[in-house]
Amino acid sequence: MRMLKGAIVGFGEVARNGHWPAYAASREAEIVAVVDRTAERRKVAQESLPSVATFSTLEELAAGAEIDFVDICTPPALHGEPMLDALARGWHVLCEKPFLLDLSELEKVRSLARERGCAVVPVHNWKYAPIVRRATEILRAGAIGELRGVEIETLRVEDCAAADPDRPNWRRDPAIAGGGVLMDHGWHAIYLARQWFGAEPSEIHASLHRATPAGAEDEATLTLVFPSGQAKIFVTWRADVRRNTMRLFGERGEIAIDDDTLRVGDESIRFESALSAGSHHADWFASMLPDVIASFREPTLSLQAFEEAALCLSVIRRAYQPA
Ligand SMILES: NC(=O)c1ccc[n+]([C@@H]2O[C@H](COP(=O)([O-])OP(=O)(O)OC[C@H]3O[C@@H](n4cnc5c(N)ncnc54)[C@H](O)[C@@H]3O)[C@@H](O)[C@H]2O)c1
Repeated sequence: MRMLKGAIVGFGEVARNGHWPAYAASREAEIVAVVDRTAERRKVAQESLPSVATFSTLEELAAGAEIDFVDICTPPALHGEPMLDALARGWHVLCEKPFLLDLSELEKVRSLARERGCAVVPVHNWKYAPIVRRATEILRAGAIGELRGVEIETLRVEDCAAADPDRPNWRRDPAIAGGGVLMDHGWHAIYLARQWFGAEPSEIHASLHRATPAGAEDEATLTLVFPSGQAKIFVTWRADVRRNTMRLFGERGEIAIDDDTLRVGDESIRFESALSAGSHHADWFASMLPDVIASFREPTLSLQAFEEAALCLSVIRRAYQPA
């Protein structure tokens, strides 16, 4: 089958350390161009991948390269514009989380993608972490019976460093990040809970901590009520330790993930790397890539992941509404 050609838009930390290595090893998709607004990051892209062409805008990209898809890795408030521009040009889209920040923009993307027959796929890479995949398989095999409860905790001592030369602290700026730790890490927990319960939540309860009233929340507790049980999500940037834990409580048992260790019944399985090790997860992205490429070849396959992103956004928007 023909190798698909793509352009990375925004060559920052996740593009360089998470996405690019996976494309380099792929036989189905290759990156032929990079678009970055800053000369600094275009230079880093040229040094890292000498064979790619670099551009400062999508307009220049369209004039200078032939591509099938874009992979958007800009800060969150800068996802929507390139996404709509790419779809208007008939390019498929892969986009980092938090996919979009505004529900009306999401509707525009949904209808333009349908009109142009293009796929729009969010990067929901935590589903592809080996330990999470294994937990999902065990759950689906019925080992703990029907799922009754989920607990997900993401503990961080600070927010992740960014490479954007103009906005090194964008994660703490709600105008660019769309929120704080809930938008940043809570997004992953919401699509995992939805996947495990196989349903939409009917109620959402949130409690947020902000160091200053106008600042981004640095800690969030979220309860999602699903038809058969509840998910409790706790995410923080002000922990004393860096750690990820997940618990799936079923009618007949429990699946526990403690960073690199999965326990179910008497069995304990140790994985190569901890969930909290690193922030860019090239191996998870590499596992996700075949599904992304399948969606580019058959865009209806992207609809489920798109709806997952729509749910994440609507839950977080509701969590941000004043009580
Ligand atoms: N899925 C994950 O596990 C994961 C991990 C880290 C980051 N992310 C997400 O990836 C995205 C990028 O995060 P990051 O840490 O790499 O950020 P970053 O600041 O390191 O990189 C952003 C890059 O985008 C460029 N840029 C900014 N505005 C642009 C524009 N208008 N056009 C072109 N380029 C532009 C910047 O120059 C910079 O190179 C965010 O949405 C973040 O939430 C996801």
